Amino acid sequence: MSLPSKVTLVDVGPRDGLQNEAQMVAAEHKIELVHRLQNAGLDAIEVTSFVSPRWVPQMSDNAAVMAGLQRRAGVRYSALTPNRQGFEAALAAKVDEVVVFAAASESFSRKNINCSVAESIERFRPVTQAAHAAGLRVRGVISCALGCPYEGDVSPDAVERVARAMKDLGVDHLGVADTIGVGTPLKVQHALERALRHFPLDEVSGHFHDTYGQALANVYASLQLGIHIFDTSVAGLGGCPYAQGATGNVATEDVVYLLHGLGIPTGIDLPALIDAGTFISTLLHRPTGSRVARAMAAQQTKS
Ligand code: HMG
Ligand code: MG
Repeated sequence: MSLPSKVTLVDVGPRDGLQNEAQMVAAEHKIELVHRLQNAGLDAIEVTSFVSPRWVPQMSDNAAVMAGLQRRAGVRYSALTPNRQGFEAALAAKVDEVVVFAAASESFSRKNINCSVAESIERFRPVTQAAHAAGLRVRGVISCALGCPYEGDVSPDAVERVARAMKDLGVDHLGVADTIGVGTPLKVQHALERALRHFPLDEVSGHFHDTYGQALANVYASLQLGIHIFDTSVAGLGGCPYAQGATGNVATEDVVYLLHGLGIPTGIDLPALIDAGTFISTLLHRPTGSRVARAMAAQQTKS
């Protein structure tokens, strides 16, 4: 069995993580988090989302956060854009990549972005065209690819329908997301295989929430298929305001530990990443969600 020789991690903590916090995090602290992540070697960071401030007030400082970044060459800064209005704001804020997100389930689509799956795809068409015209990459994400908080099980056929629609839209990349963290390895492989029917291996990624403790196993199952790009979240932050009970994404620290243990380079400095996780966890007054960070802190206390 040969695993990928290198893996890229997209830290989605500043967006997926902080969108779900009851307490508002100041823009300056979000900026500091992004800086710490890039200093730790992350070269892809999902910074914010250009969504309605009524729907997700936590991201209403999107433009201020983007404007405050000290950008590092070689780092890709992305943001979610659910419609043309969000795209125009993201363009003005000089993001490098926009993310459009469609659900594999109708109910989640309505709860999350207030339209049907088909309508969402039609909204993404002008976004994708305008992004490409402006020279930006477009990442498509399929939410609820492994299960839906309202409808339960989601079939690989439903995943493939959205994958085909995303391909038809012309997005550059497809992420397969387990929004509520219910997926198990075989099921994850089946969903990814449907994505791989429409996108090349280099342009398919996994996004696993860890609600049921399966996320690392799901990362490994993806590696077995050759998938080498994952969304992860520093300190295991994350969730979705429209998926009650879903916990954070798999912690970036834990995935880095897994990958380095497998001899797969990531370009990420684990101690610096743990410092970034400590910074945000302290600010949120809660223990880190990273098992590796907790274990290493316990080691340090002992020695
Ligand atoms: P809507 O209410 O149907 O929008 O919301 P509308 O077009 O009818 O407009 C209503 C008002 O919203 C108008 O303002 C617009 O200007 C404003 P008003 O005239 O009433 O003052 N508006 C906006 N404002 C700022 N930015 C925008 C924007 N669009 C409209 N882009 C909408 C539709 C999509 C906007 C809304 O449902 C929304 O913002 N949803 C976002 C929900 C969200 O962010 N969810 C979390 C992210 S997805 C996720 O976490 C999953 C993921 O991690 C992968 C995974 O784990 O599965 C990606
Ligand atoms: Mg998510």
